Amino acid sequence: MRPSALFPALCCAAALVLSFLCLFAGHKRNFMEDYHLLTLNTSRIGENLLNSSTAGNSDNPLSTLFHNITNSISGDVNNFVGDLASRLGVEDFYSAHLLDYCYGSYVPTPLANATVSKSEIHKNVTKCSNQTAMYQFDPTSALQKSLNDSGVDITLADLNWPDDIQKGVNALHILQKAVFILYCISIGLTSVALITSLLGVFTDGRLTAFINFMVVSLDFIALALASAIVTVVIVKGSNVIDKYGKEIGVEAHKGAKFMAITWAATGLITLALLGWFIECIIGHRKRGYVSKHG
Ligand SMILES: *[C@@H]1O[C@H](CO)[C@@H](O)[C@H](O)[C@H]1NC(C)=O
Ligand SMILES: *[C@@H]1O[C@H](CO)[C@@H](O)[C@H](O)[C@H]1NC(C)=O
Ligand SMILES: *[C@@H]1O[C@H](CO)[C@@H](O)[C@H](O)[C@H]1NC(C)=O
Ligand SMILES: *[C@@H]1O[C@H](CO)[C@@H](O)[C@H](O)[C@H]1NC(C)=O
Ligand SMILES: *[C@@H]1O[C@H](CO)[C@@H](O)[C@H](O)[C@H]1NC(C)=O
Repeated sequence: MRPSALFPALCCAAALVLSFLCLFAGHKRNFMEDYHLLTLNTSRIGENLLNSSTAGNSDNPLSTLFHNITNSISGDVNNFVGDLASRLGVEDFYSAHLLDYCYGSYVPTPLANATVSKSEIHKNVTKCSNQTAMYQFDPTSALQKSLNDSGVDITLADLNWPDDIQKGVNALHILQKAVFILYCISIGLTSVALITSLLGVFTDGRLTAFINFMVVSLDFIALALASAIVTVVIVKGSNVIDKYGKEIGVEAHKGAKFMAITWAATGLITLALLGWFIECIIGHRKRGYVSKHG
């Protein structure tokens, strides 16, 4: 018996639950919607542009693009003040999850005012994309679909859709696949580690401790890598979106809660790793003691 092995076993069990939640957060409507990777707040899209006189000659590609859109809809953009988002068929928010993306509106209102404080505003999800393993969030086709649905007779090709955006999207797809695979590997390895840890409770000996240590090490690598990539994507992504989006009234919200659970899972695996590391050393000492004095 090795009761101390219960500690890494419990850590693995908790990490397993958290990794599952990371993978499945938001996979259907209203299931852990707050655990998004990134949310695009598009509720004020176009608002800042309507007042700017620098129409179309900014060095911000999104701003230029947006002017092209508004100009093709109508010469008189002032008709759309406050209503541009719905005219374009754009929702209040789009939230990206690992398995799908969701969209909907802010209730009761997108903007805090004297009676509605910021904390009272919450997301009302209208719909989520079909959940598919390794779905690819493609803003290009999402926007084209929005334009088609809104009945505006323009295509993205008419609008000089910037190449850089497509390049960024392609890079994102590769990272998204990598992260999905890493979470799956990690869930598999954590399950194995949970079973071998429980076996380790009942079998003494250095070999089980060592096998556990190896499995948990691999698990740690997969999970830490997934968490690191996700964190970089969330932080870098929201910075880039804020940088270019601000001008057209688009804001990104970071998935702080998602980062919290993925790093909590990584922390638990680190504890399990430490637990088995200590077991290896203690087992070693015991054997050393036995062979010297026994
Ligand atoms: C745009 O201009 C109008 C009047 O010119 C003003 O009332 C409104 O607050 C401005 N909106 C923004 C977002 O600056
Ligand atoms: C959405 O973005 C606008 C400005 O871009 C901001 O004023 C508003 O508070 C945001 N809404 C939510 C619910 O975060
Ligand atoms: C705040 O927004 C809510 C919802 O749109 C509206 O009912 C309320 O009258 C607004 N309050 C003020 C003071 O504008
Ligand atoms: C939330 O959205 C659903 C469907 O889109 C709608 O039926 C419901 O009334 C909305 N809830 C609020 C509080 O606006
Ligand atoms: C999503 O699934 C539904 C039925 O499951 C199907 O009718 C619909 O076409 C699918 N949508 C997409 C975009 O694949």
